[in-house]
Order: sequence, then C-alpha cells, then structure tokens
Amino acid sequence: MKVAVYPGSFDPTTNGHLDIINRASRLCDKLIVGVLDNKSKVPLFTVEERVAQLKEITKDFSGLLVDFARANNSNIVIRGLRGVTDFSYEFQMALTNRALDSDLETLFISADTQYLFFSSSQVKEIASFGGDIANMVPEIINEQLRKKLELKELN
Ligand code: PNS
Repeated sequence: MKVAVYPGSFDPTTNGHLDIINRASRLCDKLIVGVLDNKSKVPLFTVEERVAQLKEITKDFSGLLVDFARANNSNIVIRGLRGVTDFSYEFQMALTNRALDSDLETLFISADTQYLFFSSSQVKEIASFGGDIANMVPEIINEQLRKKLELKELN
C-alpha cells in the first residue's frame, strides 16, 4: 500500500491546499495530512483548531516530519510548489529530511494555475484588513478566520 504524507502549517487551509490534497490522494492508497509546527512562524490558529478545520483527513503530530512519516508507515512526502519562490525553501527542506532519513522521498505537485498566488499568510493579511477571501478558502475557514480576528481586535 502506498502511503504518502502531506505536511504543512495549514494556518489556515486554503483552496490551494485542498486542491493538492485532492490530487495527491489520487496518486496513493492513503494520504495523511499532517498539521506540523513551523518553528519560524507564529501561528494564528492553534494546532487543535487547524486539525479541527481539516477534520477527519488530518492527523496531529508534534515533532519532526521524518518521525511523523515513519509513525504513519510512509516514505513519501507531498508538497505543493507555486513557483520558483517556493523552490529554494522546499528543496532545502527536502534535502534536510533526506539527510535525517534517506528512505524519505519528497514529491512536488505543481499548484493549479488558479491557486498560484494563494498563500495562508496573504489570506490572513487580506482578512485582517477586511478584504474578501471568500474565493480563496473554504466557507468554514472564512467564518473562523473572521471570528479569530475579531477576538484579537478585542484583546
Ligand atoms: O506550510 P509550511 O509552514 O511551509 O510547512 C512547513 C512544515 C510544517 C512542513 C515544516 O516546518 C516541518 O516539517 N516541521 C516539522 C519539524 C521538522 O521536521 N523540521 C525539519 C524540516 S526541514
């Protein structure tokens, strides 16, 4: 059985992420979506909130990606590429993960053209200025993002 993991911060999940999940799941028997910590980012949503947002298709794991993959009997990591700006970060991460576990292969799926400019950071920035993100994220994420930003403003 081919098991692949698709890791990310998913803070929050965008339609671009969902597109990669849909397409990657057709390439393997089981796709595990992992909400992992990116130590260089300060998340807006807690891991619990992000996992709840991704519901059954996700598994929460705190630690190294290589351990997450091993724990799920997977040696395939899926990552989406939106263009050359993603490449150096992604390539460095793929090489680092292979240095930690030489069995691990990272497969890149190119983002669909309609999602090329989507990023979680931009979605959050647009929403924080009251911009419309309805066509960029699932409905549930749109609602939760608005609530989260309202709460932040009150504090
Ligand atoms: O969506 P992101 O923020 O680009 O995802 C990055 C993520 C979470 C996949 C990466 O930071 C990660 O794998 N974190 C887990 C800790 C780890 O294994 N670090 C070494 C990777 S080079």
